Amino acid sequence: MVSKFNTFYRHIIEQERKFPEATGQLSDLLADIALACKVISLEVNRAGLIDILGFTGEENVQGEQVKKLDVFANDILTNVMKQGGHICAVCSEEEESFISLEEKFTDNKFLSNKYICHFDPLDGSSNIDVNVSIGTIFSIYNRVSKSGPGDIDDCLQKGYEQVAAGYVIYGSSTVLTYTAGEGVHLFTLDPSVGEFLLSTENISIPKKSRIYSVNEGNYSKWSSGMKKYVDHLKQVDKESGRPYSSRYVGSLVADFHRNLIYGGIFIYPADKKNKNGKLRLMYEANPLSYIVEQAGGRSSDGKNRIMDIKPESLHQRTPLFIGSEEDVLMAEKFLKED
Ligand code: AHG
Ligand code: MN
Ligand code: MN
Repeated sequence: MVSKFNTFYRHIIEQERKFPEATGQLSDLLADIALACKVISLEVNRAGLIDILGFTGEENVQGEQVKKLDVFANDILTNVMKQGGHICAVCSEEEESFISLEEKFTDNKFLSNKYICHFDPLDGSSNIDVNVSIGTIFSIYNRVSKSGPGDIDDCLQKGYEQVAAGYVIYGSSTVLTYTAGEGVHLFTLDPSVGEFLLSTENISIPKKSRIYSVNEGNYSKWSSGMKKYVDHLKQVDKESGRPYSSRYVGSLVADFHRNLIYGGIFIYPADKKNKNGKLRLMYEANPLSYIVEQAGGRSSDGKNRIMDIKPESLHQRTPLFIGSEEDVLMAEKFLKED
C-alpha cells in the first residue's frame, strides 16, 4: 500500500536528490517522456473514434508495415525530445538512423544535451486494431562524446550503461514503470488530473514462477534445447510446480509486465528463420533487462547477459529470455545442450 500521494515527477525528483551532484535534468527528461506518453495514451484511447486505425501503406526500417499510431507515437516522442534540450541523440525503432540534436540555447545559456534516448514508440502494434494492450519503451544513457550533436558511439552503448529505463502500457488503465537504478516503481495515470500517481514502489519479481510466455507456433523452427525446455515446462511434476501455464498476449510490454508482477519467463528465442530472434536489443531487450534486474530478475540471450552485449548496430536483434531468475537459469541450462 502506498501511504502517501505522490506523482511521477515528484518521485523522480526525490530520487535524484539522493545524488548531490545531480542537476535535475534527468528528472526533466523523464517528465518530458511521461508527457509524450500521456498524449499517446489519449490518442490510443481515441484511435477507434477518429479513424486513425489502419496502415499508412509504408514499411518501417524493419520491413514491417507501419500503422498510423506508430508514426504518431514516434513523432510525438522525437518532437518532445527535440524541444526538451536534454539529449544529443534520439534513436527510434521507427527511424532508419539516429537523429542527432544540438545543444539548446535557453534562458541565455546553453542547456547541456548530455543524454541519449532510445524508443520503441509503440510496442505490440499488431494489437492496435483489436483493443489489446500496447506500450512505449524507453531507455536513457549518458553521452560519451564531449559536446555538440551526438554520434553513433553515443548511441551504441552496452545496456549496463543505462541511467534509466521504463515503459508505459496503454491498457485497461495507463501505467508507467521505470527504474533509474534505485529500484523499480509503478505509476498509474489518473486521467482526471492528468498525472501519473505512484501505485507501487520497489517492485520485486518472484524468484520462481509458473508462467511461460512464448509464441509456441514457432516450435518447429526452434533448436532442440529450446524444444526440450518448453516440453519440460509442460510435464506434470507437482513438486517443481509443473506444468506451467502459458500466457502470450503478443505485446512484449504487456507480457513482460504481467510476468514482472506475477512472476514468469518471457521468451523470444532464435529460430531457424531468425538466427537472432525478433526483438531489438536497444529498443526492447536492454530497457526491459535493466528493469528486470533492478526487480531481482534475470535476462539473457540464452547464454549471455543481455546488458553485456556490445551493440554493433542500432536495429540489432537478439534472442531474449527474461523474467524470474530461477526460470531464466533453467532455460539457460537447457540451451547449453545446443
Ligand atoms: P513491435 O510492435 O514494436 O514491432 O514489437 C512487436 C513484438 C513484441 O511486442 C511481441 O512480443 C512480438 O513482436 C510478437 O511477435 P510474434 O507475433 O512473432 O509472436
Ligand atoms: Mn516492440
Ligand atoms: Mn514498435
